[in-house]
Amino acid sequence: MSHNRENFGSLTTAIFAMAGSAIGLGNIWRFPYIVGEYGGAAFILIYILATMLVSLPIFVAEVTLGRRSRSSAYGSMQKLRPDDRRWKLAGIMSVLIPMVIVSYYSVVGGWSVDYLGKALASEFISEDPSTVSSLFGDFISNPWLPLVMQMLFLLATLVIVALGVKSGIEKFSKYSIPVLFVLILVMCIYSISLPGAGQGVRYLLHPDFSQISPRSFAYALGQSFFSLSLGAGTIVTYGSYMRSRENIIQTSAGTAVSDLLFALLAGLAIMPAVFAAGIEPGAGPGLIFQTIPYIFSSMGASMPVVGTVISVVFFLTVVVAALTSSISLVEVGVAHLNEKYGLSRIKACIVVFVLCSSLGVLCSLSFGPLSSFTIFGKTIFDFCDWLISNMMMPLLALITTLFIGFALKRSEVRDEITNSGTVNGKVFPVFYFILKWVAPVFIIVIMVTNFIL
Ligand code: TRP
Repeated sequence: MSHNRENFGSLTTAIFAMAGSAIGLGNIWRFPYIVGEYGGAAFILIYILATMLVSLPIFVAEVTLGRRSRSSAYGSMQKLRPDDRRWKLAGIMSVLIPMVIVSYYSVVGGWSVDYLGKALASEFISEDPSTVSSLFGDFISNPWLPLVMQMLFLLATLVIVALGVKSGIEKFSKYSIPVLFVLILVMCIYSISLPGAGQGVRYLLHPDFSQISPRSFAYALGQSFFSLSLGAGTIVTYGSYMRSRENIIQTSAGTAVSDLLFALLAGLAIMPAVFAAGIEPGAGPGLIFQTIPYIFSSMGASMPVVGTVISVVFFLTVVVAALTSSISLVEVGVAHLNEKYGLSRIKACIVVFVLCSSLGVLCSLSFGPLSSFTIFGKTIFDFCDWLISNMMMPLLALITTLFIGFALKRSEVRDEITNSGTVNGKVFPVFYFILKWVAPVFIIVIMVTNFIL
């Protein structure tokens, strides 16, 4: 199918778009509760190592694959190695994975939209601190409201994607990423100044290795993949929009560092509140929705205006971060339908909406009417998240590392990463070694660990 591919306009906009994909609910909603469940500060150390040693090289590999092939994730490997049909499976996975992710991601996106509404209406302020965390239980067990919010969130995502790469995705990320950093910093400063915040800060900074289990390693890598949007076709697709003179390693490192920083800031904004509210750090997916409102309500009548403003700031951050990520997830499917079947972006968006909202409804209802329906002891929502983050994304990342490390020639990879030798290639041998020999071993060990635990 012949068509003109759009490109990102510059290095900074490429980083913004990729950081927009990376920074999302993974950082603000998933990171804190996974840290709480799998080992606190010690987990964070493992997470940082996993990001730098394993995920960053894979990120570079995905961008390289996208830019070399100039194709969305589905066709990228086929385009570079047309005679070898084995890589087709990776193409199929890279379209399916992001669609499943959007289905459950939009559930939490919907919760955030609802909480933004609650914040605007000063609802947390008028609530008694001891009961504010129960607002969450009432909300998610309501059969309709979460669904309506989820659909609103999905629609907003698709409208931005329908506008296209330059005027939709790029523009939205360019403005929202800097704003997100300012907003989360405001939240951090506020949160750390709360009475009793010290305990939360200590929890994040003092590693206690007795809290680490083999599972912690598996979840650290899974979380790092999720947070950097790896193993899902997203970064390959975005890489294909990057101009050939841009520096791949710089872009990737810039994205990984911003993502890490944002997760740590989100942790600092949230953990003090968790301890102040007396909620268990291991409370699971509802963590931020139960604890953050507590801060606002405990400020009570003394500072109602400040409380309302800060709560709006917080949930606005969550909604914007979630949107920039979900547009990147949806873009994979849309680019595929557009390239393979020639559907216009708008038609492709409609198809994606129908598919994702169908599975999405089931994920949402798994917190209410379908909560007793379980697969391997997990609700539909938890099962989708576990299957994707801990199994499918690592598997696709593994196939990608094998493709770059073994199916492509070393000179081809070096050529693409160093822009035909025009940018400094000193780190290339290190990167190549990790990609070929270290990352695959890590991924296999982690997947096996996940399977037997
Ligand atoms: N990384 C995003 C987050 O942290 C979510 C996301 C976007 C994603 N694209 C992805 C996750 C692809 C996995 C795969 O919220």
